[in-house]
Amino acid sequence: MTKLSVNINKIATLRNSRGGNIPDVLKVAIDIQNFGADGITVHPRPDERHIRYSDVRELQAIIKTEFNIEGYPSKEFLKLVKQVKPHQVTLVPDPPEALTSNAGWDTVKNKTFLQDIIAELKEEGIRTSIFVDTNPDNIINASDTNTDRIELYTEPYALMYNTNRQKAIDPFVEAATLANKAGLKINAGHDLNLENLKFFSQHIPFLAEVSIGHALISEALYYGLEKTIALYKNLLAK
Ligand code: PXP
Repeated sequence: MTKLSVNINKIATLRNSRGGNIPDVLKVAIDIQNFGADGITVHPRPDERHIRYSDVRELQAIIKTEFNIEGYPSKEFLKLVKQVKPHQVTLVPDPPEALTSNAGWDTVKNKTFLQDIIAELKEEGIRTSIFVDTNPDNIINASDTNTDRIELYTEPYALMYNTNRQKAIDPFVEAATLANKAGLKINAGHDLNLENLKFFSQHIPFLAEVSIGHALISEALYYGLEKTIALYKNLLAK
């Protein structure tokens, strides 16, 4: 079954807006796991405007499921993940000032760069994933980087879902099939939500994991975290 990793950056953003410790990021992470999520994702950025480097270090001790750390592989980021040793690192090409990740890697141009970083992470026993769009060149060249997985950047799917969901899913099915043939495991994320997730997961049979933050936390305002996580798990049940 496809795993659900919950991105808790938004919880940290809410906390940071007031300066205290409400909501308590560690407690929320513990609860999210108890409510049935299969993992916790964080995306520390250099300005620490969402999750802080200190949060990431503290989270390490309480993650009983799977810990996924995303980010641009800067020196500071690599130092952090080598200390924390999460189960998975997802490499994202976003510049520090980006509001959120808005593109996948150009794996042709960045192949040697990615190969070196991935080799470094693997030496530490950390599984790797790289964020990519559905361009076949990016998928084929991703497999040359020796990454274990790719994470498909699903914003284009989410944007088109309501107008033409078949057209929206087609490039993802092609990309996933190509990646699967190349021996890569497939994750997905960005703008997935309670409405568009089921169709996505039904069409990508070998989807290993989705990481979902913005919509899940927003939907939890209405349903509560426990029920929202149960709803997501239900959608992913094959
Ligand atoms: N995957 C990556 C690489 C991301 O950068 C993000 C956003 O931080 C997500 C998944 C989750 O996206 P969303 O918050 O839209 O669910």
